[in-house]
Amino acid sequence: MAIILSGRDLSDKMKQDYKKEIEQIKQKHNIVPGLAVILIGDNPASLSYVKLKEKACTEVGIVSHDLRFNADYKEEELLKLIQDLNSNNNIHGILVQLPLPEHIGEEKILCAIDPEKDVDGFHPVNVGKMMIGAPSFLPATPSGIQQLLLRNNIGIEGKHVVIIGRSNIVGKPLAMILIQKKPDANATVTLCHTRTKNIAEIARTADILVAAVGRPHTVTKDMVKQGAVVIDVGVNRIEDKTRKRGYRLIGDVDFEEVSEKASAITPVPGGVGPMTITMLLHNTIQSAKKHAGIE
Ligand code: GUN
Repeated sequence: MAIILSGRDLSDKMKQDYKKEIEQIKQKHNIVPGLAVILIGDNPASLSYVKLKEKACTEVGIVSHDLRFNADYKEEELLKLIQDLNSNNNIHGILVQLPLPEHIGEEKILCAIDPEKDVDGFHPVNVGKMMIGAPSFLPATPSGIQQLLLRNNIGIEGKHVVIIGRSNIVGKPLAMILIQKKPDANATVTLCHTRTKNIAEIARTADILVAAVGRPHTVTKDMVKQGAVVIDVGVNRIEDKTRKRGYRLIGDVDFEEVSEKASAITPVPGGVGPMTITMLLHNTIQSAKKHAGIE
């Protein structure tokens, strides 16, 4: 049976460290890290992520500025809001929850955020820095996956990492992070997507297999090499009338059967999700320190 890689436990530990660090920053430098979290519309999954982010901020002592707007909020209004936040000295991080409603241009919005406050690491300047291995804000989900592996003593160097899914938020940046010429990376990465032929065959060659597709049952037992490490990024709501809220969450991986074959696996929920939030806290603290000239 596979070891369960609990992002929840690791995240709880990391948050304790962050809480102490923030207390020190407050005492020594009189700075309180501030994060603006913008949500447009009422996508239930987005609302739930945003609430979790805000709760985690409060836990560690980051001031979360919750900015919520109806789905008809205009692009110009959002651009103006971002400009105001860019020049607000109490705000060290700006996060615009994706996806945005169709009438708002995602690229335009992401480009409007000051790269120095772009704690999501989605601004092209930060994407470029990430690609060349320069210091930058790393996107939270891929860097959370990297930390989850390393802090569980799962080496990445020299491993064949197969990623299924080429999103700008997970698949592409994860590939970029793990191919860097650095001891905490140095992986050989194969990035699979909807037009890849023989995904199952490629997946079976993975030492570390990452599923980031957003579709249940994408990774089945036959796609996993004996002893592989399996990272499940999917968060899918499926109807479950036995639950009070009427649904439960499952990943992209058939957890029951794959955990018999893998050496380590992330659960859903409680795997990658909490790590994403923790890395967002990390980026916000780093940003606050940089703005205050600390380190
Ligand atoms: N939507 C899904 N994941 C993310 C994320 O990491 N950041 C933002 N801003 N939106 C998301």
